[in-house]
Amino acid sequence: MANILRRPVLLLTVAAVLFSTAPVSNSIPFILFHDKCSGGVSNFTQLLSNLSGSPGSCLEIGNGEIDTWFMPLMHQANEACEKVKMMKELSQGYNIVAQSQGNLVARGLIEFCDDAPPVINYVSLGGPHAGIAAIPKCSSGPICAIAEDLMKLEIYNDFVQDHIAPSGYVKIPGEMTKYLDHSKYLPKLNNERPDQRNSTFKNRFMSLHNLVLVMFQNDTTLVPKETSWFGYYTDDGFDSLLSTQQTKLYIEDWIGLKALDDVGKVKYVSVSGDHLMIAYNDVVKYVVPYLMA
Ligand SMILES: *[C@@H]1O[C@H](CO)[C@@H](O)[C@H](O)[C@H]1NC(C)=O
Ligand SMILES: *[C@@H]1O[C@H](CO)[C@@H](O)[C@H](O)[C@H]1NC(C)=O
Ligand SMILES: *[C@@H]1O[C@H](CO)[C@@H](O)[C@H](O)[C@H]1NC(C)=O
Ligand SMILES: *[C@@H]1O[C@H](CO)[C@@H](O)[C@H](O)[C@H]1NC(C)=O
Repeated sequence: MANILRRPVLLLTVAAVLFSTAPVSNSIPFILFHDKCSGGVSNFTQLLSNLSGSPGSCLEIGNGEIDTWFMPLMHQANEACEKVKMMKELSQGYNIVAQSQGNLVARGLIEFCDDAPPVINYVSLGGPHAGIAAIPKCSSGPICAIAEDLMKLEIYNDFVQDHIAPSGYVKIPGEMTKYLDHSKYLPKLNNERPDQRNSTFKNRFMSLHNLVLVMFQNDTTLVPKETSWFGYYTDDGFDSLLSTQQTKLYIEDWIGLKALDDVGKVKYVSVSGDHLMIAYNDVVKYVVPYLMA
């Protein structure tokens, strides 16, 4: 976010966007998901709202940053589901912008939530959609230390799965049996277990109007960064990386990604910068337009 408003020429773009904005009363609301709503995140929500002319809010899960680390993702997705259903302003449909781990909560909401208002456009910024092969660096403090120690135990251990949110999307190449047997979140979200694929999850995901997958070229938090586009390592190990279109999730279309792609509804966007460090002009180009429709 450091690049915001650095170059005056960008102000012209802002002006152009603002003047072409429909009145707020006609626009579709959006919800933002991150690991917390405070600090820079509320500012980002406000920026998106200012630029798109659409009302938006950040949806807090539990108490914010601590719960998003320690509450299992299934609980987080359930909480998001219940909250969204109570927001009357979303009943005609809404758009989602999600950052990092917030993408897995957002996608859980889209796929698992019964009787939910429809999600129209979904913009994903640095989402670990296909899993991560290394534990994300936690910023600082004693809580990070506890989390990191717990994760060193054994990622697919029940206790870790129930108490550390990111363990729900750690997918170690070469350990597929353990992953499929014991991971409590991602295999379900991605319809990975052959005997448990649920077409309802797929149909819900396929009903999106636009799916924008933003990958950060210099992402050092997500390993591999291509997970933002659903690309991942082969099941055997770290030696080769499959592009989105080479994965079984895509080819066999477990969640409807291919179906969406076939009709031109998936935008694969690659931007410069490290994890979530999206430049102002990229926000204007790749995020704001999907909040105005
Ligand atoms: C919030 O956004 C404004 C305008 O984009 C920026 O100037 C300011 O530094 C941001 N504040 C924080 C705390 O990120
Ligand atoms: C959004 O617009 C309001 C009202 O013009 C302004 O006060 C606020 O600083 C803007 N925030 C950002 C982050 O652009
Ligand atoms: C699939 O998911 C839907 C929605 O949660 C649920 O109602 C249904 O029972 C599930 N179907 C199977 C076969 O598990
Ligand atoms: C991305 O990483 C490359 C190689 O480390 C570096 O040369 C480049 O300056 C980085 N770009 C950005 C935008 O951070």
